[in-house]
Amino acid sequence: MKLFDVYPINDITIAKAAGAQVWDDKGTQYLDLYGGHAVISIGHTHPHYVQRLSEQLSKVGFYSNSIRIPLQQELAEKLGQVSGREDYQLFLCNSGAEANENALKLASFHNGKKKIIAFRKAFHGRTSLAVAATDNPKIVAPVNETDNVVFLPWEDETALEAAFQQHAVSSVIIEGIQGVGGINVASPAFLQKIRRLCDAHNAVFIADAVQCGYGRSGKFFSHDHAGVSADIYTMAKGMGNGFPVGGIIIAPHIQPSYGLLGTTFGGNHLACAAALAVLEVIAQEQLIQNAATLGQYLMDQLRTLPNIKEVRGRGLMIGIELPEELNQVRKELLFRHKIFTGEARPNVIRLLPSLALTKAQADQFLVAFKTELTK
Ligand SMILES: Cc1ncc(COP(=O)(O)O)c(C=O)c1O
Repeated sequence: MKLFDVYPINDITIAKAAGAQVWDDKGTQYLDLYGGHAVISIGHTHPHYVQRLSEQLSKVGFYSNSIRIPLQQELAEKLGQVSGREDYQLFLCNSGAEANENALKLASFHNGKKKIIAFRKAFHGRTSLAVAATDNPKIVAPVNETDNVVFLPWEDETALEAAFQQHAVSSVIIEGIQGVGGINVASPAFLQKIRRLCDAHNAVFIADAVQCGYGRSGKFFSHDHAGVSADIYTMAKGMGNGFPVGGIIIAPHIQPSYGLLGTTFGGNHLACAAALAVLEVIAQEQLIQNAATLGQYLMDQLRTLPNIKEVRGRGLMIGIELPEELNQVRKELLFRHKIFTGEARPNVIRLLPSLALTKAQADQFLVAFKTELTK
């Protein structure tokens, strides 16, 4: 049987990984500033993570949500503390798309309305509603098309106000920093405006924190930089450091009832052990602080380099926009300098490393990058 060929891949097989380093099957070492697409939050194969998952696996790996799973409550408490949202409620699922799907659905259950406001260049995932709220017609199948999603220009307060006048809005979904869209940081003023309009119109503010959350921006949620709370936060990528786990946290005024949401795998023992290990390491090693400090250092240094159009981001979620003539730089970084980075179109290099990146590793990248920019 062949694989269903949907991914354009680099011809590299990773055989070993530790921290922000990976090695291919020939023993070549790489610096990983991509983190498997913003997933590796605490570093590859972190010893505490490996130990907690291994110990859990040898006890019980999975049982369904039909029995008590104390690890879920432990995770909810820890997540409440670290995120500063102790009065929120946790629903666990398996991926970012699923988290957004559940959030959009829950908002509609809650207020009985249908219209969703999303933004240009947004990416929210590939399940039915999540993809309908994603601004990329190429990945929306005919069956996913719906009139229930209204796309607005990014950061356009007038358009936002008009949309609230025109439609019975159920929810507004927004990434605090657009990832796939090219690292566009939502301004505090815009997020505050969304909060006010949602309050005034009984709409649900959904913060998509799948990529920009979990400490990556230098605060637990990048939306926290605006000083307002969303009604639902969606999370995935960094949450399990590679173990598939996603979740939504839900403000106290949104009430659950039996059967409203559900999943077979979500919240299983192994997923909870992985998510707990991540939060423990984030706290122990002060990784949110490290993301803030090192991210600022990287951005300050990058802004001194020549031939860059723009540097955008917060913490360790950084976009470097390059002119068209430098569209080979990312490939050179990978194949000449052995450094993985991410990309966004048209010509943005995305840095999404582990939050435990060191200054020496940041400097290694800066030296290599400067060479490519000036050669
Ligand atoms: C902001 C955002 N939301 C949702 C998703 C979808 O997550 P997943 O691929 O886990 O379904 C992604 C994935 O890249 C994302 O970046």
